[in-house]
Amino acid sequence: MTTDSLPRHIAIIMDGNGRWARARHLPRLAGHQAGAKAVERTIQAAQKKGIAFLTLYAFSTENWSRPKEEIDGLMNLLSQTLTKYTRQAAKENLRLWVSGEREPLPPAILTQVDEAVAQTATHTGLTVNLALNYGAQQEIVHAANAAYAAGEKKLTPETLRNYFYHPDLPDPELIIRTSGEERLSNFLLWQAAYSEFYFTSVLWPDFNETELDKALAAYATRTRRFGGI
Ligand code: IPE
Ligand code: IPE
Ligand code: MG
Repeated sequence: MTTDSLPRHIAIIMDGNGRWARARHLPRLAGHQAGAKAVERTIQAAQKKGIAFLTLYAFSTENWSRPKEEIDGLMNLLSQTLTKYTRQAAKENLRLWVSGEREPLPPAILTQVDEAVAQTATHTGLTVNLALNYGAQQEIVHAANAAYAAGEKKLTPETLRNYFYHPDLPDPELIIRTSGEERLSNFLLWQAAYSEFYFTSVLWPDFNETELDKALAAYATRTRRFGGI
C-alpha cells in the first residue's frame, strides 16, 4: 500500500457492544469490557501501520440518556483503560488527545484524562484522540461561541476551524462504523465533509487488525474528488 492510499487520520464509531453482549446472554457491561480490548488491539494495529491520528468515539453527548448503571460501568472502564493506556503510551510513544465537553464528566475522570494528556503531550508516535462526551453539533457551537468571545467579526470555514477542540487535527480521510448502523450519530459532522465511509456489520468487540485491513483495503480503492473531476 502506498503512503497516499493510507489515511493519515482514521476515525471510528465503535458501535455494537450491547448487541455483542446480548447475543451471548451477558450484561451490556461485558460487551463494553470486550470493546475495551478491541480498543487496545486497534491502537496497536494503527500504530503498527503508521497511522498518525486515530479518533475513537467512546461516549457521545447523547449517551447520558442510558441507565445510570451502564454509565457508571462505562466510566469505571474508561478509568481502567486510561491507566493501562498511559503505561503503554510511555513505552510506545503514543500521545493522547481528547475531544468533547468537560461537563458533566465526573471530576475524577477529568483529572485522570488531564494527567494522561499532559504526560503524553510530547510523544511523537500515534495520536489517539478520544471523543469523550463528544457531540459534533456541540463542537461547532463551542467553536462559534469561542470565536465570538475572541472578537471575530466575520467567520469563514477556515477561521471557525481555529476554534474547534483540536485545530491541528486533520480531517479524517476514513470514518469506520461497526455494527451495521450507517449514520454519524453526531460525530465529526464538519470534519466528515469529504471523508470516505466504511461500514461493517462486525460488532465492535470483534474488531481487530484483519477488520482494520479490510477497511484500509476498501479505502485504497476509493477515488477522492473533492468536487473536482
Ligand atoms: C457502543 O456500543 C459503545 C457506546 C456507545 C458507549 P453500544 O453500547 O451502543 O452497543 P449497541 O449499539 O447497544 O449494540
Ligand atoms: C454512537 O453510538 C456513539 C458511540 C459509539 C460512542 P450510539 O449507539 O450511541 O448511536 P445510536 O444511538 O445508535 O445512533
Ligand atoms: Mg449503539
